[in-house]
Amino acid sequence: MNNPKIISVVGARPNFIKMKPIINSIKKNKINNILVHTGQHYDQNMSEIFFKELMLPKPDYFMGIGSGTHTYQTAEIMINFENICDNYSPDLVIVAGDVNSTLACALVSAKKNIPVAHIESGLRSFDRTMPEEINRIITDSISEILFVTEKSGVQNLIKEGIDRSKIHFVGNTMIDSLINYIDQAKKRKPWLNYGLTPKNYCLVTMHRPSNVDDEIKMISIIRLINQLSDKIKIIFPIHPRTAKLMKQCSECLSENVISTSPLSYLDFLGLMSSSRFVLTDSGGIQEESTYLEVQCVTLRENTERPITITEGTNHLAGTNTKNVLKIIDNILTGKNKKGSIPEKWDGKAGDRIVKIISEFL
Ligand code: UD1
Repeated sequence: MNNPKIISVVGARPNFIKMKPIINSIKKNKINNILVHTGQHYDQNMSEIFFKELMLPKPDYFMGIGSGTHTYQTAEIMINFENICDNYSPDLVIVAGDVNSTLACALVSAKKNIPVAHIESGLRSFDRTMPEEINRIITDSISEILFVTEKSGVQNLIKEGIDRSKIHFVGNTMIDSLINYIDQAKKRKPWLNYGLTPKNYCLVTMHRPSNVDDEIKMISIIRLINQLSDKIKIIFPIHPRTAKLMKQCSECLSENVISTSPLSYLDFLGLMSSSRFVLTDSGGIQEESTYLEVQCVTLRENTERPITITEGTNHLAGTNTKNVLKIIDNILTGKNKKGSIPEKWDGKAGDRIVKIISEFL
């Protein structure tokens, strides 16, 4: 194909991190690419700061979709993205992860017969109550090139009937970014800003609808965090979804807990790398902590990233407070999981992806 054109789509916080290595490699290979930002995340500290720290180019299109129901977000993004595709006539659209922006743009492209490349294909929690699981299954089923981060993903896709020739096990672009930025992040010593010392604090994040959208669950998590703050210092950057729900909740965080607004990429990475352990319900943090060999306690019943359990430092704790505290007590008494770094998490996933895309085009 002569002078092929690509659109790369980002929308929410984890997309920025996953897409950066691909954008770098596309640039190195001098392929025409435009960056589309749906604006699903739009705050200074959920979006802008990531563009700045990752030195992402200014988006060629910014839709400014903002918050709303899943239907609103998906539908509005689809309408906007169709116009962009009509204006630019791309030969390929790249989407990443499992957020509503991913699904919406993949769907528009597939309907317009524009091939879709999906970064982070094949991950499955097998829990269809999670909005992300629906986004993953549908996006994978309509993608032409499926880039997988861990081998479980290959098996999942084959079981779903995806042609083997479309599936590429390439590694993890979120880990590419981590490798590129970790030295810079550690140099900042972000723990000093909060009076913390390395390996003497726990970093908490919480934003899954299943944990924070239900008041009873939210209360039990707040109590868990408060109990934990008697054992170890806690820093808790609070996601806007969680902050909103916490305001309406009858239980408050203890004064011992250091709560902040969402942190920048470098501050967060720096804090994670020097934490004693992380307590989270995020997907990406399970992977990042595995690479950093930091213990991760995952407050969920399932994970779509099983390699972080089988090879990494992740403990799938469920949401029962007693069980979670038992796992944490083990960690605090030195019974840590010794992990290893998963195959192909080597900082070269972005280059592998762009090589395969170039051949496809
Ligand atoms: C989304 C993704 C989730 C991902 C997470 C990372 C979906 C279905 N979910 O969840 O997979 O792990 O991003 O953060 O796409 N808000 C702000 N400012 C912002 C963005 C959001 O205040 O810049 C608030 C809004 O009140 C909004 C709420 O956060 O209602 C939730 O945002 P939303 O885009 O619906 O999804 P997330 O919960 O962030």
